Amino acid sequence: MARLKLAVLISGRGSNLQALIDSCAKPNFPAKIVIVISNAAEVQGLERARQSSIPCRVIAHQDYGSREDFNSEMTKVIEAAGVELICLAGFMRLLSDEFVDHWSNRMINIHPSLLPAFTGLDVQARAIAAGEKVSGCTVHFVRRKMDEGPIIIQATVPIHANDDVDALAARILDEEHRIYSEAVRLIAEGRVHILDEQAFID
Ligand code: GRF
Repeated sequence: MARLKLAVLISGRGSNLQALIDSCAKPNFPAKIVIVISNAAEVQGLERARQSSIPCRVIAHQDYGSREDFNSEMTKVIEAAGVELICLAGFMRLLSDEFVDHWSNRMINIHPSLLPAFTGLDVQARAIAAGEKVSGCTVHFVRRKMDEGPIIIQATVPIHANDDVDALAARILDEEHRIYSEAVRLIAEGRVHILDEQAFID
């Protein structure tokens, strides 16, 4: 079985990376991680990659004069690794239009809200503050506008009356770990099609 080659881009904890590592370790999972890239050194996610003997690179944004230069270096490294799909997993830098267009329909992101509601940061706190009764997470293809793009999978979780941000974030994170691997599997199996900027699953 030819397995889809993934790059996972991180900036920190890497729990979604870990979920992908665990899925890729299962027999018959149709993808494998060929490189992990972090823009920050010494983050937990890099340690997770090393523990699983996955090649990893730190590409520090501060070392580049512009976002474009930083992103072109990422493309060089990603292409040299033969990557077919990029998974953003808590990657905390905005991407250049050029990078996003180059990887169009070959780059996905996981976001801890039910998009298009609550784009951006602090989304769990904002969902609680808005009095929402459900929240969840979304895996979507990446487009130029942050947290926009064809939605592949979503999962919902309840928001309880006494929830604080940590409790809600943890509940959502459990679902993130499940649906990110599921989205990768569907793409690797060639079952995701984009038509008029909507994703359809066979
Ligand atoms: C996750 O909540 C993800 O949805 C968001 O950033 C967080 C990353 O967490 N994009 P982790 O680094 O995967 O643990």
